[in-house]
Amino acid sequence: MKMKRILVKSSVGPYSILSGAGVIRRAAQEIKGLGQFSSLHVVSSPKVWRAVGESVRRGLRLSKGSTIHLFDDAESAKNLRSVEEITRSLCRAGADRKSLLVAVGGGVVGDVAGFAAASFLRGVKLVHIPTTLVSQVDSSIGGKTGVNLPEGKNLVGAFYPPALVLTDPELLRTLSDREFRGGLAEVIKHSIIADAKMFAILEKDFEKVLRRDRSALGFLIPRNVQIKARVVSRDERESGLREILNYGHTFAHALESVTKYRRYQHGEAVAWGMIAAAFLGHELGLTRADDVSRIVALVRLLGPLPSWPRVSPAALLGAMRSDKKTRAGILRFVLSPRIGEARSYDAVPLHAVERVLHFTPRLITASSKLSRGRHG
Ligand SMILES: NC(=O)c1ccc[n+]([C@@H]2O[C@H](COP(=O)([O-])OP(=O)(O)OC[C@H]3O[C@@H](n4cnc5c(N)ncnc54)[C@H](O)[C@@H]3O)[C@@H](O)[C@H]2O)c1
Ligand SMILES: [Zn+2]
Repeated sequence: MKMKRILVKSSVGPYSILSGAGVIRRAAQEIKGLGQFSSLHVVSSPKVWRAVGESVRRGLRLSKGSTIHLFDDAESAKNLRSVEEITRSLCRAGADRKSLLVAVGGGVVGDVAGFAAASFLRGVKLVHIPTTLVSQVDSSIGGKTGVNLPEGKNLVGAFYPPALVLTDPELLRTLSDREFRGGLAEVIKHSIIADAKMFAILEKDFEKVLRRDRSALGFLIPRNVQIKARVVSRDERESGLREILNYGHTFAHALESVTKYRRYQHGEAVAWGMIAAAFLGHELGLTRADDVSRIVALVRLLGPLPSWPRVSPAALLGAMRSDKKTRAGILRFVLSPRIGEARSYDAVPLHAVERVLHFTPRLITASSKLSRGRHG
């Protein structure tokens, strides 16, 4: 089995991410290497457990003393009530400080179970087994855990690095197409901000990737893990470098917020956001036209996106200003001076952002009509 071991540095010491097809079969063995535990507790959701429970159960060689705690992993259930539900269930199952919590699922399970692990008895050891593309290349890496409040997303949480992450692309087989494509948006993002070579490979092989071709995923997933691991190892607390991971996200969060989180899967909003960020880079004289057109073309290979909302640029700007990442009302944008590089810029002129918000939906609709026309 081809398996990559990627080390992530964190404030409480390093942890490894094991990535490769079939890694799940080594789960018990790898966990044994972490030390002795009094009991093992899986936290997952009914939907995830139906999809991958059998292979995870076998891989973990679950014994009688282990228990499985299932909770709803809808984004609307990513809240403190779920943390209470999980931690109370752990109590009833007799979990103690020496217990191990294994989070099996996408980003929702990882964030909620991770926060439960951080706070239950002031912290029990945590292993992530991510089962969505987003969680494999993004949310399981870097130690951010947390839940939403009615007032906003991810407002309560903790940095709580796991002891180990087991990333097996085979677990993605049952993922819906929409979720898979959403994850690919973050993959494209990684290539724009840090990996021009991967960007070129995506341009060439995107069809294979969309088919979830084994060798394509076997290459892409560890490569993306490496990118995020490198960034968070150098800047765990997002004091600088980690910000580049927000490429396209200032726009995306605004699009999600004005549509009340109903229209877009997050990756779809990020896809629009990356197009807008490329245009903004060009508008500011930073990103060259040929890079902009390559970015737009690659993003569009993801397939048709839910349309841009019918709201004014001013409404979108308002949403950006109230984003929790906006500091003192100053809009910051991650921009890419060339494919493979990015940094964050503050004090971007408002009128430039407004222009981009105005013409992005117009340009993209116009060009899709054009390509339809050309091919009959
Ligand atoms: N902590 C971080 O650094 C970080 C980073 C990015 C995103 N996030 C968070 O992650 C969440 C999104 O995570 P996500 O994109 O993984 O989505 P998700 O966890 O919402 O999962 C998407 C859907 O896929 C289902 N699913 C999961 N694995 C499956 C499988 N193998 N087969 C079939 N169905 C499966 C889930 O039940 C769910 O319905 C958001 O809450 C976001 O805030 C956190
Ligand atoms: Zn994202």
